[in-house]
Amino acid sequence: MGNDALSILDKRTQTTYEIPINKGTIRAMDLRQIKTGPDDFGLMTYDPAFMNTASCQSAITFIDGDKGILRYRGYPIDQLAEKCTFLEVAYLVLFGELPTESQLKEWVNGITYHTMLHETTKHFLEGFRYDAHPMGMLVSTVAALSTVYPEARNVHDPQNRKLQIMRLIGKMPTIAAYTYRHSLGYPYIYPDNDLSYAENFMNMLWKMVEPKYQANPVLARALDILFILHADHEQNCSANAMRAVGSSFADPYLSTAAAAAALSGPLHGGANEEVLKMLDVIGSKDKVPAYIEKVKAGQFKLMGFGHRVYKNYDPRAKIIKWAATNVFEVTGKNPKLEIALELERIALEDEYFVKRKLYPNVDFYSGIIYQAMGFKPEIFTVLFAIPRTAGWLAQWQELLMDPEQKIARPRQIYIGYGERDFVPIEQRGVAAAVTA
Ligand code: CMC
Repeated sequence: MGNDALSILDKRTQTTYEIPINKGTIRAMDLRQIKTGPDDFGLMTYDPAFMNTASCQSAITFIDGDKGILRYRGYPIDQLAEKCTFLEVAYLVLFGELPTESQLKEWVNGITYHTMLHETTKHFLEGFRYDAHPMGMLVSTVAALSTVYPEARNVHDPQNRKLQIMRLIGKMPTIAAYTYRHSLGYPYIYPDNDLSYAENFMNMLWKMVEPKYQANPVLARALDILFILHADHEQNCSANAMRAVGSSFADPYLSTAAAAAALSGPLHGGANEEVLKMLDVIGSKDKVPAYIEKVKAGQFKLMGFGHRVYKNYDPRAKIIKWAATNVFEVTGKNPKLEIALELERIALEDEYFVKRKLYPNVDFYSGIIYQAMGFKPEIFTVLFAIPRTAGWLAQWQELLMDPEQKIARPRQIYIGYGERDFVPIEQRGVAAAVTA
């Protein structure tokens, strides 16, 4: 073996093993040969929360967390945000190359053709309580689409996969808009195929009695840019959920519902909603220092700060800050911006945040823009889920086409009881019940 190898001396047996290193990685399965005897299962790695484990090889998204770099299929995120539409970027993320003019036309037509929901799905949505959280409604409705398109189960047919991908990307804004209108008690608005992806979403959200909805072009472009920034982010919690569920060959609607469920948590996509709640709690700029002290004392986290991968400014947060300027010219400044800027200023100078490399992430400023545009915080995570659907589906396709992938099934280190005899109920003590 050449120099690209790791020599491991097992002191238990005084045996040395040569483990190949490829792309800065050793294969965990290569450790299985390291045994103390024939009955030994072999060495495993222990890595709660995947802190240092690559679960796949991927050609979709590149992140250099130390340098604050994000690229989709090699293209820097700032160039894509400036020059593309979201659907163009979705095509790139899903199929690997930017579309030609005719490919883009066909793609946009395909998505637009699939924006309608089956009427039974609309009735399904009507069954939710008036105060149902939009993410709960979104997750359930996406899962319910599995019953409308049973052929989606055929996950090994590329043509069928493409059809379901177009359906999901097409229908996501429709479901999202319906969850919003449901919470307000407004009638649902059908998609308008004359409009762009973002404009049509705005139409389904905000059209009232006017015959044709006119989207503000600045706000529509800002929304499209936000969609581009959220399209994919490699192996995050929800992409990992998509891959884990997809690896059992569940259909794409059920897998996407699982991914969206993972996104809903406050440590992931749910953080944008939490940021706004946090800014409300802080209330005014002068209260920021006292709030930061409480964060440092461990009472709570500064929402919208920190990232598992970025140990530098999140490049998406930079672009969002820039897009906010355009939005505020139309909507007027969101008064929360002042508090957010002060939070960022103090945190970036503070030893606690500097030492831990905690910077604003994508969720820190996105909520402030969304609120200025007229969205309620409860729907922020739904706005994240719409574009991320493209990323989830790209991860899912890549998984299905990767001959190395199998059903996701981690190992564990069992730390429970050894074998013990059954205890009849009348003989069980209080202590046993409490432990259970
Ligand atoms: N506020 C205060 N302290 C923090 C924060 C924060 N937001 N984030 C991390 N820390 C501290 C943490 O307490 C730990 O300190 P110590 O070393 O003293 O124990 C240290 O920084 C390392 O943090 P960690 O929890 O080991 O980091 P992680 O990689 O497991 O977690 C994270 C990453 C994003 C879950 C976390 O930073 C966090 O909870 N942030 C707030 C929620 C948030 O904004 N999430 C959105 C993430 S970006 C978009 C997305 O994924 O959807």
